[in-house]
Amino acid sequence: MRPVEIRPGIYWVGVNDRVTDLFEGLWPIDQAGVSYNAYLIKDEKSALIDLSKEILSDDYLAQLSEVVDLASLDYVIINHMEPDHTGALQRILEFAQNAQILGMPKTVRMLDDFYGLTENITQLANNEELSLGKNTLRFVYTPLVHWPETMMTYLVEEQILFSCDGFGGYGTLDGGIFDGDYADLAFFESEALRYFSNIVAAFSKSVLSAMKKFADVPIKMVAPSHGLIWRKDPGRILELYQTWSEYHRQPAEAGITVLFGTMYRNTEHALNAALEGIAAEGVPVSVHDVRKTHVSHILPDLWTQRGVLVAAPTYEGKLFPPAMDVLMMANRKRVTHKTAAYLGSYAWSGGGQADFEAIAEKMGWQVSQGFGFIGGPKTDGLTRAYEMGRQLAKAVKTVS
Ligand code: FEO
Repeated sequence: MRPVEIRPGIYWVGVNDRVTDLFEGLWPIDQAGVSYNAYLIKDEKSALIDLSKEILSDDYLAQLSEVVDLASLDYVIINHMEPDHTGALQRILEFAQNAQILGMPKTVRMLDDFYGLTENITQLANNEELSLGKNTLRFVYTPLVHWPETMMTYLVEEQILFSCDGFGGYGTLDGGIFDGDYADLAFFESEALRYFSNIVAAFSKSVLSAMKKFADVPIKMVAPSHGLIWRKDPGRILELYQTWSEYHRQPAEAGITVLFGTMYRNTEHALNAALEGIAAEGVPVSVHDVRKTHVSHILPDLWTQRGVLVAAPTYEGKLFPPAMDVLMMANRKRVTHKTAAYLGSYAWSGGGQADFEAIAEKMGWQVSQGFGFIGGPKTDGLTRAYEMGRQLAKAVKTVS
């Protein structure tokens, strides 16, 4: 895409990544892609806020060169050191030899750690301001949104928040860069939630702390480093992030995420009965087959629904491995405040239920019921599974 002037003298200079299969080497973006948004401010002094991933350096440089002579660039502002934002730094500096690099104290150390850079670097303080002429930049330290060095940059006169990873999402920008460019935002909101649950959710407390710092600051535009720029309705993405972040300290929405796996369909038969019980109570349910679904696509439901049903058998005395893999990632991502239940088949000694209960306890989940059965569920087992689904749904409805 060509650069876009988002306000007089202020340009979006981002690139779409349709090449990378796994964001951070972990999270599938082979379908949705992602954008690396950077911003150039041309004033008496010129400043570039964030860069791009290294593999797209050529595209990024070509695009940037359309709007600025890099040799004249005064500042490169590093909101965040993760290489999806800084990979192009060394290439930029080959051309921008007079530029000062600006970042928080931990950024200064990381510039050396990652790129061996120790010169032409200015360390910033929290809330420090920098005048570029007509425009003033304020640097606000927002640690752990996403790394310990991360800051957001606020353009005072234009009331634009360059929020870096915060308020970002997966998904390439397909022609338009603003929320107002799309009639339907369902794709971007869904990919923002997936990105949040994959990347940011573990740092929800820090997101809320960061948002507090901007509580009394007027924001006309939220300009993150991934995904849409929110200009028509900047409050929308702030509200979504606020809601999602709150779920680290309170139960989420009334719904049940099912982590389902089966070897010979015995657990599946019991699950079908449990789902009927849940449906009888009218509670929304999302069934994920853990054998086939990447955890990236399960985490959004796990994060936003307060109920969990693990329906997976015992395998070699432990919980079915793909189900345990999801739970281990949930533990890593600090998925908590859940009301949960277990059902699953075993062949001789069981073990899946106890394995699940041990990790659920670690995460602080309330496990209300467990139903491990030998072989197939039989008629009384199906009745029990139905009732279990119903009781779980009732519990989920009453959690406050
Ligand atoms: Fe977009 Fe934490 O990197």
